[in-house]
Amino acid sequence: MDDIKVSDRRMEIPGRVALGKGKGGLPKLDITTDWSTGQVYLHGAHVTGFQKYSEPPLLFLSEASRFEAGQPIRGGVPIIFPWFGPREGKPAHGFARTSAWELHETTATPDGGVSLRFHVGKDAAPDWPSHSLNYIVTFTDRLRLDLIMTNLSEKDLAFENCLHTYFHIGDIATINVRGLKGLEYLDKTDHYVRKRESDGEVRITAEVDRTFVNTRETIEIQDTKLKRTILVEKSGSASTVLWNPWIDKARAMPDFGDHEYKHMVCVESGNVADNRVTLKPDRSQILTAILSTLPF
Ligand code: BG6
Repeated sequence: MDDIKVSDRRMEIPGRVALGKGKGGLPKLDITTDWSTGQVYLHGAHVTGFQKYSEPPLLFLSEASRFEAGQPIRGGVPIIFPWFGPREGKPAHGFARTSAWELHETTATPDGGVSLRFHVGKDAAPDWPSHSLNYIVTFTDRLRLDLIMTNLSEKDLAFENCLHTYFHIGDIATINVRGLKGLEYLDKTDHYVRKRESDGEVRITAEVDRTFVNTRETIEIQDTKLKRTILVEKSGSASTVLWNPWIDKARAMPDFGDHEYKHMVCVESGNVADNRVTLKPDRSQILTAILSTLPF
């Protein structure tokens, strides 16, 4: 999987899409638009970077991340599918984030943006019913992610999915997260007990691992240190996950720096737990997240 295929080379667009070897020798796409730059690894169709010219990076990527076959990248946007969280005898968060995706299309749009389409099918998961995943990543002054799951089997197919976005923040002590007030969540740090969020502005001062269900709200991360608000808009998503590992869990993770918890927060858009999706044969589900920033 370390080799760059001739068919992938044909997808390059001068000045817009360049293919090369990234960390660990894995194939990586470098994207340039009129507003931004970005990076995507074919391993997991994993977006590892997005940065507007006038701003610090939008996405957090761990200095300690592994970049190797069979292992997920820590940071950016892992694609979680077809289950969220641990599963006995199987990889946590499913197989999509460690699959070798194929690059099917690259487009440089007349307005100065770039769009990429990746695909992975049943070959990545022979034990799983027949399905197809397409992933369209569009870079402009924002980052748009569309994950399209199609059930090619003859039976209903149930799955969870999530775009596990890691955001780069100035300091965990100076951010707050808006858009969660009044929502029900499962608290993974407290035996999955169901609770209701009481804060309009959630501040993070300890490990946080909350799965909010039945919500289609846009989330705002206000970052006073970097003087910007990150907006997480979504569709085809009824769950939002808020995660920061804090001190002890950061130390316990081999692919995450001990102090990196201060500079990241995950606000993830998907369909998990109560919001698991059941798809009829020949039907598709589209999960979309649109990530942008506003200065203040
Ligand atoms: C979050 C989960 O989405 O992902 C956390 O809610 C989990 O419980 C985190 O620890 C990271 O998972 P992983 O498998 O990438 O270490």
